[in-house]
Amino acid sequence: MKVVKVFVSLVAVVAIAATGFAYSGLYDVSASSPHSGLVDWLLSTTSRASVNRHAEGVQVPDLDDAMALAGVSDFDAMCTGCHGAPGQEPAAMGQGLNPPAPDLVGAATELTAAEIFWVTKNGIKMTGMPSWGATHDDNAIWPVVAFIGRLPGLDADQYKMMLANAQGQGHHAVAAPASAHSHAETSSGIGFDQHAQPDDHGDATGSDVADPNKSELESDPNDHSSHTH
Ligand code: HEC
Repeated sequence: MKVVKVFVSLVAVVAIAATGFAYSGLYDVSASSPHSGLVDWLLSTTSRASVNRHAEGVQVPDLDDAMALAGVSDFDAMCTGCHGAPGQEPAAMGQGLNPPAPDLVGAATELTAAEIFWVTKNGIKMTGMPSWGATHDDNAIWPVVAFIGRLPGLDADQYKMMLANAQGQGHHAVAAPASAHSHAETSSGIGFDQHAQPDDHGDATGSDVADPNKSELESDPNDHSSHTH
């Protein structure tokens, strides 16, 4: 019985100390300072194990070349601001993230397609990684995953060529095939893009039902016109 009492008191002391610490304001939540080694280990281990477990039930479709091509415009519009692209650094926003948004070449080699899909669809809590499933159905996400599988070995020129070849595929592609690679250039410069008309939706993406009125995150790292640097 004595052991139980000691244990209960210990738990109570730890709970009170943790609550006191939470209210104290002593913990530094700033994104500009790194996590301590222990917190970093705890968060990244928890995250990796969670993604691994939750992706187990994901059914992976055939991620062929046609699907990868259909995903490049959406990748360019939705992901590069934080993750960068071949020959392209993340935008200012992406450079201030903590934890940072990794180069997805690493994800393409270290994660399974099911895991990449699960992360893209669901996002990761308490990081900048959004849940794209909130606004996109699975048919709109798989082409982006298929494209990420082609990222390793893709240089800046090949990336641009692929964007040009995508010819309006994906709901983020611009309407005119000739300017399919200039998605960012045709945007208003304040971070929102012009959505393609429903007729321009890619054939390989199937039924993309994303709301065309929803604006999404996009930025051109070379466009600093709206900033005063
Ligand atoms: C607003 C910034 C932001 C945008 C936009 C964004 N991500 Fe992320 N993403 C992050 C951050 C931050 C992480 C790191 C999370 C972590 O460390 O747990 C991340 C992590 C990931 C990972 C896991 C990488 C790994 O190696 O574990 C994948 C996969 C991923 N993102 C895919 C995407 C895709 C696909 C898109 C576009 C559809 C996208 N992200 C758009 C911020 C973003």
